[in-house]
Parts: sequence; C-alpha cells; structure tokens
Amino acid sequence: MKKILSIILAVALLAVGAFALTACNDDNDKIVMYTEAGFAPYEFVGADGAIKGVDVAIMSEVAERMGRTLEIKDVAFDFITQYVAESDGYAVGAAGMTISDERKQSVDFSNVYASSTLVIISAEDVAYDSVADLAGKKVGVQQGTSGDEIISYASDAANGGYTYKDGENDVTVTAAGATVQKYQTYALAYVELVNGRIDAILMDKLPAQSLIATQGGDQLVIKDAADLLQEDFGIALKKDAPAELVDTINNVINEWLANGNIAAYTDYFTAVDNYEKNGGEAPVAPEGLKLSWNV
Ligand code: ARG
Repeated sequence: MKKILSIILAVALLAVGAFALTACNDDNDKIVMYTEAGFAPYEFVGADGAIKGVDVAIMSEVAERMGRTLEIKDVAFDFITQYVAESDGYAVGAAGMTISDERKQSVDFSNVYASSTLVIISAEDVAYDSVADLAGKKVGVQQGTSGDEIISYASDAANGGYTYKDGENDVTVTAAGATVQKYQTYALAYVELVNGRIDAILMDKLPAQSLIATQGGDQLVIKDAADLLQEDFGIALKKDAPAELVDTINNVINEWLANGNIAAYTDYFTAVDNYEKNGGEAPVAPEGLKLSWNV
C-alpha cells in the first residue's frame, strides 16, 4: 500500500514539476502585447493577415532587445487594461492608449510616445467641430476609449458633464441629450455613420483619417474637437512590472523620439495601410528604418 502511495506521489510530483517547467518556459521567453487592431497607423491587420503598425514596431524592438518572442493578442479594447493588470508582468497594452488618471488606477504607463487630437467625423454639411456641437446627436465611439468616456460624461449634463483640468483651470464640456452608441470597432461605427444611423464619431485623428482614406467617405469631414485638450499615448504596463521591461520600453521610446523613428513609422504605416487598401504606388520606407525583427 505504502509503495503504491509513494509511486502515486512520485508521479504527481513529476507532473507538477513538468507543468511548472513549461509554465516557466512560456513565461520566460515571451512578451504578450494586447491590442485592438483597428487603429491604423498604430495597429492594423495588413494584407498578409499580420498585425502591423507603430505599436507593433515599438514592441517588436523591445522584445528583440530582451531576447523574447512577441505574442500579439487582438482583443476588445475595453479589456486591455484589465488583462495587463492581471498578467504576470510581461504583458503590455500597446494600442494607441491614452494615458489617463482613471487607467492609472489599474496600470502604469511608459513614457509618452505620441500625442493625439480627438476629432469628430460627421457629414460635410454639418461639420461638427466641438463636443458641445454634439448635443442631442447620436454619437458613435469605440467602447472603453477616451472618446467614449468624454461623450458619456458630456451627454449627462444634469450630472455635471465632462470636466478636465487645463493647467490650473477646470473646464467643463456638455453635450446635453447626446446618445452614445458604443461599438467594438471603429470600422463598425464608420459603417453606421456612412449609412446615416449615427450623426458623428468621436475618435483619434490619425485613425480617423485612415478610416476615411481606406473605407471611402466622400460626404464626410474630420474636424478637431475644439473644446478638448490633446491626449498622450503610452504603453500600459502592469503596476510594478519588471524593471527590465519598463526600462527597455522607455529606452526604445526615448531613442525613437530623438532620432525621428516614431514619426517615420507613423508616416510609413499610414502609407502602407492606404496602399494595401487602395492600391497605388507601394510606399518605400526611409532608408535604415527597421521593418523586421527577430521576435
Ligand atoms: N486613444 C484612445 C484611448 O486610449 C483610443 C484608443 C483605441 N485604440 C485601439 N487600438 N483601438 O482611449
């Protein structure tokens, strides 16, 4: 009996050991990048089916420098912070994510690598150019984005609208009676706008330009939301993420801001997205701009 028990125990221990080893191996050699790949030029699905863009370039460089593989997971945008917060620390959110106080409660952010202006896409003849203009309108947003947060608060004027700090001053914007339509992807919102089922979309400028350039939209215009401030993008990290990961990300960002690579990748991937969807002349990357990584 004793013998059988010890055999069972030995087998069980072996199994646990083998499991721990695999789990460990997995953890030790990869970085998981959570994103939502409908946000060109930061991330989009290329003609070859692979996800590419500025965020992918940054994280590929980071993974290569750390000798890890990069696993990209395309998920619903509003789950990204939670997935990062619950990860083992080697997972990041690289998704054109706006650094915000609310998100900072659950995740940390890298240095800023890009700034963005929120814009409103609407029909040419109305051309809304402020959140205030959206009062009483049907407004499409990607669920869980800054645009969603802003218009959701602004539409609730009875509860104080949307307030932000501009330097020392509190600024409040309201769009009383706006209806917020939340979509999983911007492409879905865009179809609804083209078909006249919503009046406007509130989103980041470059991805808005990419939508218009690649999905058609002759009667649509893009206007800066004049009553909002610029937003800053950062890579989301688990709080207390491994220092090597944080440092490598910030080093890549600092170097690539200084040498112009961030701007070069932004232009290049804008052109690639446009070319892959509309044809024309294939874009040529500036000399020396790295486009493949050993990850
Ligand atoms: N900058 C906005 C935000 O952080 C929108 C980001 C959407 N990103 C995406 N990959 N779909 O809320």
